[in-house]
Amino acid sequence: MNTKITGTGSFLPEKIVTNFDMEKLVDTQDAWIRERTGIASRHISTGETVSSIAAKAAKEALLMAGKQPGEVEMIIVATCSPEMLLPCCACQVQSILGCSNAVAFDLNAACSGFLFALNAATAYIKTGLYKNALVIGAEVLSKIVDWTDRSTCVLFGDGAGAAFLEATEEENIGMLSLSQGSDGARGMVLACEDRDVVNPFTEKKEQILPGYVTMNGQEVYKFAVRQVPASILDALNKANLTVEEIDHFVLHQANIRIIEAVAKRLKVPMDKFPTNLERVGNMSSATIPVLLDEINRAGKLKKGDKLVMSGFGAGLTYGAGVYIWG
Ligand code: ACO
Repeated sequence: MNTKITGTGSFLPEKIVTNFDMEKLVDTQDAWIRERTGIASRHISTGETVSSIAAKAAKEALLMAGKQPGEVEMIIVATCSPEMLLPCCACQVQSILGCSNAVAFDLNAACSGFLFALNAATAYIKTGLYKNALVIGAEVLSKIVDWTDRSTCVLFGDGAGAAFLEATEEENIGMLSLSQGSDGARGMVLACEDRDVVNPFTEKKEQILPGYVTMNGQEVYKFAVRQVPASILDALNKANLTVEEIDHFVLHQANIRIIEAVAKRLKVPMDKFPTNLERVGNMSSATIPVLLDEINRAGKLKKGDKLVMSGFGAGLTYGAGVYIWG
């Protein structure tokens, strides 16, 4: 049994915040942000929640796949910024769309989240447990970003992307191989604290308010430029393919310098690395599915094209998958 992506969708909040808008908020310059990150603008929620944008992206994916909500068997939402601790975002999406026959749950692996969710859904389908899955990456990072910290607030954006995955008997299609890993020991280089343990049985009497994203940018940069090429080569090796045989490298969109460094290490021209981070910034788990939807709708994906998807992020988590487009 193989899997096939039969529909993709994405949604970006209407509000666009440019680097020039950021100059009015913190001590920064358009030139600094462009040069260090490649980002020029980002979409920012003015009230949309993770579940509302996730549902909009998912609806587009279902429409493309020609499926009714009642036909969906599984929903996995990858997010690290849900609006509620309970219920999970996937159950909220289920409710909004009316996918009453689906099992729904969230997965948090930060910027690797969509890839890990796609791999989990693939495993469920390949074992025959489910025939299809709606896999979504959605974030409203603007609510966990410290808008007074210039070193982080310029990097992130809000958005959602989705893919509908179905079982198929077709040969040589779908996820051929994957490589995944985590390095929890170094997790605090990119972190965001939630509630503290305060209850009648603790000494503490006051709840510390949930924190904002903190990041050691240089450590994350070094981790990414080492780990992403290694994961990609591992996944390619397992698929018996070489970098030259890959048509599109769909990478997590954190920073153009990271993507350029990966391209250089793999000795692959940049035109095989589609990017959209200039317009949308880093949307964590939403970056890969939004980019996938954009290149799909632009007609750039042909049957038989070989894709590498690769994500890295907080955790630290990282991974890559080799996928044959159907
Ligand atoms: N505008 C102007 N100056 C700034 C800004 C800003 N927005 N942010 C930091 N600076 C200043 C710093 O204060 C510092 O000043 P100083 O020399 O006077 O102390 C100077 O610029 C250099 O700061 P660095 O942190 O050394 O800048 P660096 O070249 O490392 O670039 C960046 C920072 C872009 C974050 C880089 O480290 C990077 O790309 N890291 C990868 C991390 C990443 O992409 N994270 C995204 C999240 S990862 C994920 O997706 C999960």
